[in-house]
Amino acid sequence: MKHLLTVTIALLCSLQVSAQDYTPLQYGAVKPTAATTKGLKDYYSDYFPIGVSVSPRNITGADTALILQQFNSLTTENTLKFGPVHPEEQRYSWDGADAIINFAQAHHLKVRGHTLCWHQQTPAWLFVDRKGAAVSKQVLLQRLKDHIFTVMQRYKGKIYAWDVVNEAIADDSTQFLRNSPWYQICGEEFIEKAFIYAHEADPDAILFYNDYNTEHPEKREHIYRLLKTLLDKKVPVQGVGLQAHWNLTAPTQKELITSIERFRSLGLQVQITELDISVLPPQSQRDSTWLAQPDVYTPQLEQQQVAQYTAVFKVFRQYKGVLTGVTFWNLSDKYTWLDRTPSAKGKKNYPLLFDSNLSPKKAYYAITEF
Ligand code: GLA
Repeated sequence: MKHLLTVTIALLCSLQVSAQDYTPLQYGAVKPTAATTKGLKDYYSDYFPIGVSVSPRNITGADTALILQQFNSLTTENTLKFGPVHPEEQRYSWDGADAIINFAQAHHLKVRGHTLCWHQQTPAWLFVDRKGAAVSKQVLLQRLKDHIFTVMQRYKGKIYAWDVVNEAIADDSTQFLRNSPWYQICGEEFIEKAFIYAHEADPDAILFYNDYNTEHPEKREHIYRLLKTLLDKKVPVQGVGLQAHWNLTAPTQKELITSIERFRSLGLQVQITELDISVLPPQSQRDSTWLAQPDVYTPQLEQQQVAQYTAVFKVFRQYKGVLTGVTFWNLSDKYTWLDRTPSAKGKKNYPLLFDSNLSPKKAYYAITEF
């Protein structure tokens, strides 16, 4: 009997999974999981690439292993935006982007380039001449062309898709295009020119228009109108990026499906380009006590977030083929841009699939068990 017990214990010990094979869950439970060897990219290998936006600091140190385990696509978070990469007219700053692209090449990861033409994070010189006066349309379009050619040709063959134009549609639904310096100087022509230049610079790159609130009916229809006009003019745009900065209640599955269907009807591919699910209520749903409430990631918020991630990923899987990529905006709750937005009012957010210790959250298991 004693011998049998010893053998049994020895057998159990030999079957034991090493500590490394366990992934701790947020609330103390420890779940044995294949996640240490299998990642999101593997669960979704029959569907679409799964990406994450990264800065150079993510690709050294502790984040690296998680990125390589879970993702097969990267988006350059800030490094290829106009301001960071082209701070002065005669100077490009390549170090950050080169580091990301080299990392991707070394590990066979796809890369989405972000973004060639946007109204934010632009350099001070871009819209003005030496005296500070607004440049002409001709000068601005030439600057745009030079920029697009220089950046895209540097990474030709290494960046497979580009967000060519970002957020050109106005938030105010009574307006059509955003009243940005691009628009003020060039009128709506800057949009088609950006796509035409991008296609000339790298004919193999897949070119996207990218925006947020793509599930709001008015904005969705304005984006649709813009894209349809471009396509009717044979402007080379192949895809639409739904940024997907979402929250616990929006979008509904129905709203998301309506948007995907609408853009698909134009023959475009669709990508989810900046996914995160905020646990803070949208500003319209905050009452007077909200600011004083502690910003704790409660089990209730966690459950709501699980439900929302589950719902949207179900739709994503349903649109396999139309949807050609899903990218998260930031890696883990340790660092999320949402913590720094003015509307957060200093509160911490928990929008991603990995917690501040880089451990998978319940939402991770929810979207990988299907
Ligand atoms: C937008 C931009 C991104 C990023 C996020 C917030 O969605 O497209 O590049 O700046 O805002 O970080």
